[in-house]
Amino acid sequence: MLGLKLPTDPRWVNIVEKNIEEILTDHAYCEQKATSTAISLIVSFPEYTELVQEMIKLVKEEVSHFKMVHDKIIERGWVLGRDRKDDYVVQLITFFPKGGSRTTQLVHRLLYAALIEARSCERFKLLSEELEDKELADFYRSLMISEANHYTMFLNFARTYGDRNEVDKKWEDLLVYEAKIMKDLGNKETIHG
Ligand SMILES: [Fe+2]
Ligand SMILES: [Fe+2]
Repeated sequence: MLGLKLPTDPRWVNIVEKNIEEILTDHAYCEQKATSTAISLIVSFPEYTELVQEMIKLVKEEVSHFKMVHDKIIERGWVLGRDRKDDYVVQLITFFPKGGSRTTQLVHRLLYAALIEARSCERFKLLSEELEDKELADFYRSLMISEANHYTMFLNFARTYGDRNEVDKKWEDLLVYEAKIMKDLGNKETIHG
């Protein structure tokens, strides 16, 4: 349903389970980065009215996710740590060449966002199914649904604003590239690690 070419090895959850503090810390920043992405799209592309409207809603939703994760960290007696580097995203966003028309740049950013949402959703699903900590498993189930909706929204915007065939081709190529990145991942207690 998400179009991902390489599923995460479920053994990744065993790594996560050994360090819940680490996954929650990394996750908190993922939600914060999702909030920043939505704000940044508004700043960069104010003339896309429908996008701006949806990004306003998304900012609120992602910041509420950040609070949910932050609350979990507090409940467990921890304090939010420093931001973790997301090697997955760093690699992913080098795929499309820089530059091009404004529409092209917008489409590329929407496709990156769609894919990050899709992979996050896949990881959340795995956590919801495999975590022995049932409270946390339920937590990830509820978030999984939100991220699936975001994935669809970003991909639909890319298809609406760009040329449909071109966008579909770019999406397919990006999925293939992402699977290559993923081959070396699944070994760290971070959301995309
Ligand atoms: Fe989120
Ligand atoms: Fe999201």
